[in-house]
Amino acid sequence: MTYARIIGTGSYLPPTIITNNELAKKLDTSDEWITTRTGIKQRHQVNDEGTIDLAQKASINALESANLSANDLDLIVVATTTPDNIFPSTASLLQYRLSASCPAFDVQAVCAGFIYALTTAQQFIENGNAKNVLVVGAETFSKIIDPTDRNTAVLFGDGAGAVILSANNETGILHSKLYTDGAYRDALYVDNESKFVRMKGNEVFKIAVNRLSALAVETLKEANLSEDDLNWMVPHQANIRIIQAVAKRINQPMSKVIVTVDKHANTSAASIPLALDIAVRDGRIQKGHTCLLEGIGGGFTWGGILLRY
Ligand code: ACO
Repeated sequence: MTYARIIGTGSYLPPTIITNNELAKKLDTSDEWITTRTGIKQRHQVNDEGTIDLAQKASINALESANLSANDLDLIVVATTTPDNIFPSTASLLQYRLSASCPAFDVQAVCAGFIYALTTAQQFIENGNAKNVLVVGAETFSKIIDPTDRNTAVLFGDGAGAVILSANNETGILHSKLYTDGAYRDALYVDNESKFVRMKGNEVFKIAVNRLSALAVETLKEANLSEDDLNWMVPHQANIRIIQAVAKRINQPMSKVIVTVDKHANTSAASIPLALDIAVRDGRIQKGHTCLLEGIGGGFTWGGILLRY
């Protein structure tokens, strides 16, 4: 059996940091409100950089950590909802910037985008059609956030994360699951006129907790693993209360959950690979650890990946 195993990770955050107190100077909000409702203390934001710039820097980090060059890549998949152009895709631009020559395409599933992209790459590897795949989540959500809307302006940040997924005979992704339900299309969407995100926060909160909890239980069961077998949860970083509620429902202490939402806010498709890279580099996630990655976003789309790192 050929598994798809993560052999390298990378990430990049634009240098400008916007704290809650800075936002509170322009919006009718406060550090106290944002912190207690979301766990967010700050977010990174681009100035001149585009999504492609963030994607490129995270990808170079991931290639370096995997000891591979762009020539070794058989496929590039980029998850983004905030491409710099409608086309060419961010993946095409990235292929050119990296001087790679493999096929490259984008996947758009908003905050579940990285789970969708990783699952897509997994199929190419397990089918024998690719050996090394670069999978990226990169977003400049600040471009589609109304800076005057306190309901959304406090929640999001910019950034990118990347992994190298590689064919391996021993272990890697154990199980993956994807879901979509377009019935929730009005709870979270980009308004075509203003081009800004609109969100029914309470509804999104409930959908996220219920769907991600059910998904975690289902994924573990289908992989014949128990809650005790998990070393780490690497959830999408939207809101600390969503993360805590899901962890509680599958009996995981917060000491087994990777949390970056306080520093990064919600970076949509970038949030899971960013959190993964940070926990791999600081030594918490180690080879052989069993990790559950989960994400949910507009559409609604959601999905989970259980893997042995
Ligand atoms: N500062 C101060 N007050 C605010 C702010 C703000 N930034 N934003 C909203 N409010 C006000 C609202 O206007 C409302 O006021 P009203 O009651 O006078 O009308 C009130 O706060 C809402 O309060 P609550 O309903 O108690 O807020 P809640 O506890 O539901 O928290 C939040 C709101 C943080 C948006 C929460 O619902 C949430 O996180 N939902 C999920 C949203 C999310 O994660 N979206 C990301 C995309 S999807 C994903 O990634 C999963």
